[in-house]
Amino acid sequence: MTAVGIDAIEIWTGKLRLDLPNTFAPEKGEDPEKYTKGLGLASSSFPDVYEDIVTMGANAAKRLMDREGLAPDDIGRIDVATESAFDNSKPVSTYIAGCLEQVYDGDFHHANKGERKFACLSGTQSIDDAYNWIKAGRHRGRAALVIATDTALYERGDPGEATQGAGAVAMLITENPSIVELSTEQGYGSADETDFLKPNQQFPSVDGKRSVQVYLARMREALEDYESVAGDTHPDDFEYIPFHTPFPGMVRKAAVLGFRHMTRDTDVEDELADEIGMQPRESEYDTWDDYEEAIRAYMDDLKETEQYREWYATTIEPTLSISRNVGNWYTGSVHIARLSALRDALERGDELAGKRMLVGSYGSGAQAEIHAETIVDGWAEHVEAIDVDGQLDRRQDITYDEYELIHDVHNHAKEVDVEEFTAPESEFVFTGWGRMNERR
Ligand code: CAA
Repeated sequence: MTAVGIDAIEIWTGKLRLDLPNTFAPEKGEDPEKYTKGLGLASSSFPDVYEDIVTMGANAAKRLMDREGLAPDDIGRIDVATESAFDNSKPVSTYIAGCLEQVYDGDFHHANKGERKFACLSGTQSIDDAYNWIKAGRHRGRAALVIATDTALYERGDPGEATQGAGAVAMLITENPSIVELSTEQGYGSADETDFLKPNQQFPSVDGKRSVQVYLARMREALEDYESVAGDTHPDDFEYIPFHTPFPGMVRKAAVLGFRHMTRDTDVEDELADEIGMQPRESEYDTWDDYEEAIRAYMDDLKETEQYREWYATTIEPTLSISRNVGNWYTGSVHIARLSALRDALERGDELAGKRMLVGSYGSGAQAEIHAETIVDGWAEHVEAIDVDGQLDRRQDITYDEYELIHDVHNHAKEVDVEEFTAPESEFVFTGWGRMNERR
């Protein structure tokens, strides 16, 4: 069977940086440690005045195409995953193709374009669509370009404001990929939920606490469903487990539940049960608050055990390094978690080819998807070529007042005239509604 998976990755971060513990927390009258220790965040990325989901997506895609030496004719499909779309008819992929056609010989008239929506999950769903398209033999030898692009902004004063971010991830899906091969087995946990909604509005209406519960419940279902096709999982089966990361503190909770589930009926569990003496299950508690309390206590105890600490430090913590510094990228979030993990292995000089990752994607509304990926030869060279640190370091720091201005600029309900903070550097820029994005 032909292998299909991710052949190349590129990112584009919003070009502004808000320091959460030092700039944001003092203005909100909050302890900086709520951000660094509680939520697990150091800073957020924000788009400059001339950036939006189209320009970030197009800039990430151009970087990827240039590095891989691709022309439009090599790409047969462009799917954009976003929950920040501004057009209910034309998919964002048409706008992005329009940008790319300004700089390459040839066009994308032959390419199938679409836009996927299921909150933060749709980046993974777009990869699934591309996988199916290639496996079905409809791709005529061409690759699929998947772009996950979002400005994850919340109303000022909303608890979610602390977790904001903006950026795009472009991924090339091909036969015989150079980074990871996708497995055929998937597991789903899906239910009609109303914890996070954006009905024709720029900022979401969120029940933050409930959204955490729904994330955990759907992720657990997805893991059980995955095991029903792939067999029981064990924590040691996977080199890394990248989760959707709205903020690293969310992943800390998901990791505890995942570890508890994966160690069931094993020696490890018996050992842990002896040590901790408690295995919380949702059904054992009258209310979710009681259950959360039990998980918190369990988590505190678990964190004291050598097994969990070692597993978390090597399997989960490395997936959080980019997220800590950029905030939530919604559809791109799980994909920067994967990239963080691969960068960790590169830094440590680990040979990963043949090893597996378990990827936990999630979208509010709500659905979780779990699938496994096998890292393939060539991954290190490809990951080394992605200039993540350079991009993050080049971001310009903003003050709290500047943050408020830029937040207003990206609130489509407001007309705000603000000077650019940074100068565009040979990139696509937003020049106004209904007008073609330009390259400056
Ligand atoms: N020192 C150390 N830790 C501290 C602290 C301090 N001084 N102050 C608070 N903390 C800890 C808290 O104990 C808490 O940790 P635990 O949950 O492990 O106990 C953490 O910091 C956050 O504190 P709060 O719960 O008080 O924070 P909050 O209520 O202001 O906001 C939130 C939390 C509700 C999740 C909010 O960030 C939010 O609404 N976020 C947006 C929604 C979201 O991201 N949901 C995640 C699941 S849905 C999803 O994943 C889809 C998506 O992308 C949106």
